[in-house]
Amino acid sequence: MTIQWFPGHMTRAKRQIQEKLKLIDVVLELIDARVPVSSRNPMIDEIVGPKPRLILLNKADLADPQQNERWLEWFRSFGHEVLAIDANTGTGTRDISGRVKLLLKEKIDRQIAKGMNPRAARALIVGIPNVGKSTLINRLAGRAAAITGDRPGVTKGQQWIRTGGDLELLDTPGILWPKFEDPEVGFRLAATGAIKEQVLPIDEVACFLLQWLATAYRDTLVERYGLTDLPEQLPDIGSAAEVLEQIGRKRGCLAGGGHVDYEKAAGVVLRDLRSGKLGRITLEAPII
Ligand code: G4P
Repeated sequence: MTIQWFPGHMTRAKRQIQEKLKLIDVVLELIDARVPVSSRNPMIDEIVGPKPRLILLNKADLADPQQNERWLEWFRSFGHEVLAIDANTGTGTRDISGRVKLLLKEKIDRQIAKGMNPRAARALIVGIPNVGKSTLINRLAGRAAAITGDRPGVTKGQQWIRTGGDLELLDTPGILWPKFEDPEVGFRLAATGAIKEQVLPIDEVACFLLQWLATAYRDTLVERYGLTDLPEQLPDIGSAAEVLEQIGRKRGCLAGGGHVDYEKAAGVVLRDLRSGKLGRITLEAPII
């Protein structure tokens, strides 16, 4: 199944972000630590251009800690400044303003050399829907200052939100669209909940997830669902469906005639992933 990606969305989002870039000193690019590449917009370099940028691996609390380290290293190897954070609890977010200062050091030093008093750095948060933009704005603002959701027209005009550090945020984040022409990217985003469930068949998403878990998080998978005879690999969707069937039986996800209700079983697996019941899981590995 191919998922549609609308170039029109991207063109509009790009234009809106580029308007905002004129107002700011630094971009905070929010991505999902569980799917660091799939949750990025592939045109981000072109959109942001030479504007200094700090990459934030959000939801690091849900991602595999070892993989977080590998991904941080991977982004640094491309010369990016990057931090792992959890916008929900605030872990790592206190380091943001310090990192921004480092990124803007030359500019700040120049201002000081001219006898100017450097003003607070101005930042724009950008990221795909559901990556945690509003949560981060609220966290940095220390109060419920940000609009929630991506509803257009909620705020009229743009406002600066002051944060504790020497950092000001634009109150409306830049919304990027993921590009999921590659089916694997689509499945990863659907598994984490970034893409609405109606877009992709939930049982196929669960099968994709099981294929990944069977190799990358085998013990977790076996333990959580009490699986017996889990093959070393699930090479195709058929073999993954057999495992989904086993899980469905164990969890009592039955339709009429004793058959397994695959959609229900898929719902169990996806809920377990998203709520962290499967433990901390990363769905893609950096190629180093
Ligand atoms: P957005 O503005 O980019 O669209 O995202 P938003 O802040 O609304 O966050 C989307 C969901 O992600 C929220 O869950 C939020 O609590 C959660 N979230 C954001 N940052 C983090 C993080 O660092 N760690 C964890 N564990 N969760 C985070 P929600 O309100 O329950 O929405 P939903 O899950 O029902 O979509």
